Amino acid sequence: AETYSDIQRSAQFKTLNSDDLEYFQSILAKNEIIHSRDPSDLEGYNEDWMRKYRGQSQLVLRPKSVEHLALIMNYCNEQKLAVVPQGGNTDLVGASVPVFDEIVLSLANLNKIRSFDPVSGILKCDAGVILETADTYLRENGHIFPLDLGAKGSCHVGGVCATNAGGLRLLRYGSLHGSVLGLEVVMPNGEIVSSMDALRKDNTGYDLKQLFIGAEGTLGVITGVSILTQPLPKAQNVAFLAVKDYQAVQDVFVKAKGELAEILSAFEFMDKRSIQLTKRHIEKDTAFPLEEEYPFYVLIETSGSSKTHDDEKLETFLESAMESELVIDGTIAQDKTELQNLWKWREMIPESSQCQGGVYKYDVSLPLKDLYSLVTAVNERLAAKDLVGAESEKPVIAAVGYGHVGDGNLHLNVATRKYSKEIEEVLEPFVYEFVSQKKGSISAEHGLGFQKKKYIGYTRSDAEINMMKDLKKHYDPNGIMNPYKFI
Ligand code: FAD
Ligand code: MLT
Ligand code: ZN
Repeated sequence: AETYSDIQRSAQFKTLNSDDLEYFQSILAKNEIIHSRDPSDLEGYNEDWMRKYRGQSQLVLRPKSVEHLALIMNYCNEQKLAVVPQGGNTDLVGASVPVFDEIVLSLANLNKIRSFDPVSGILKCDAGVILETADTYLRENGHIFPLDLGAKGSCHVGGVCATNAGGLRLLRYGSLHGSVLGLEVVMPNGEIVSSMDALRKDNTGYDLKQLFIGAEGTLGVITGVSILTQPLPKAQNVAFLAVKDYQAVQDVFVKAKGELAEILSAFEFMDKRSIQLTKRHIEKDTAFPLEEEYPFYVLIETSGSSKTHDDEKLETFLESAMESELVIDGTIAQDKTELQNLWKWREMIPESSQCQGGVYKYDVSLPLKDLYSLVTAVNERLAAKDLVGAESEKPVIAAVGYGHVGDGNLHLNVATRKYSKEIEEVLEPFVYEFVSQKKGSISAEHGLGFQKKKYIGYTRSDAEINMMKDLKKHYDPNGIMNPYKFI
């Protein structure tokens, strides 16, 4: 894990002492405080999902009420104690864990559904509700959460708002900037600011909640979320298809938009190496759906209200795609289990890339025509330096590309046997320069966190960065909220 050798703990922050602990003990119950002088006891809070970043916090606070959380923030602000808000700790840019001894403020105990209105579809819940729990509750009420992602079993509703997560169905349901209707936020000084009474339309001045969506916990703590959910589709289909090259991925996408139109709910792609890596990890439990390997794969999902109508549309689409040899092989899920298994071949790529030692992740937006060129360029670069291969002495196992074609969002994962400065320096800033030259974004959906703090200038102008800094200084004058990260 990262040792943060090139930055220093800021002297402006106080070190936790026994008076501070006493204060927290005076407002919270015993089981809301985890304290240990040995930070490794708090590994689950100090270390991130990738096992790449590790902090040294000795204190985790898990308040059960918003009022207590507000008291904690007010105290930390006055005492200049730095704080890292934490949801499910599934973040992929080193944003969710401390760098030094910051207090971890976990939302895990703020986990109640507050209300659901089946007429408007508006769900109000605490920030610490796990995404899958919210989705299961909604399904029982004929609705779904308008966002789905591989980390749903761990990530929080507040966490996905704090990162503005995109996920697998953004092309159908849009971004959280659109579906979140209101937030309840505790500001660094302890003030509770709420727009939870949100309405579908409300143009009374600045839309302040947007400031916190994607702020990665640097401006305030989200404690409540009001969100517009979607009706549960009555019919769902998944097709897993093989194509000969990246041009064909784009051609199938255009065809799917035209012919599947309003029922298209996901369009994902993965390259051969992604699948080869995933096979090593999951093939013993989950059979690969096709008999052969191909250069590229596409996963298409449809969601609609009539099974006969959707089946007919998908079959017509596939027949003509195969007749013209645009699609060279493929399968359609026949039941729910098959549907879940096909999704597995996409959703398990992150874990399969990470599990063999470590992973360098690049989550970028690029013009669709250039989306895959980054993967090719990085593979050439690694091969030229003789760093990649199946042999155990090669540090990199594979550099794989997959992602959300519908959103112009590529994920480049460089699966490595261990983290090393040598590999990192081959990849960075190369990847960011490449993306910037192609007029892309260095963060499509995962944020900046610690990993990309040095590189924000590749995507944002000085004027934009200065505006962000002004906001930060205004709302968090002591800089206690998630310090050392992108701002
Ligand atoms: P954490 O990881 O705990 O925190 C993330 C950031 O938000 C941190 O900066 C933290 O300080 C802040 N934060 C958390 N909660 C709050 C709060 N209540 N108030 C203020 N700040 C807060 N992301 C995508 O966009 N699309 C994907 O498809 C996707 N798939 C993933 C698949 C896997 C297997 C994994 C491990 C991650 C994936 N992610 C994806 C990345 C990640 O961004 C999401 O999992 C999720 O948005 C993080 O939520 P969390 O509750 O775990 O937040
Ligand atoms: C995904 O699309 O699978 C996620 O963003 C996570 C990842 O790429 O690791
Ligand atoms: Zn993604």
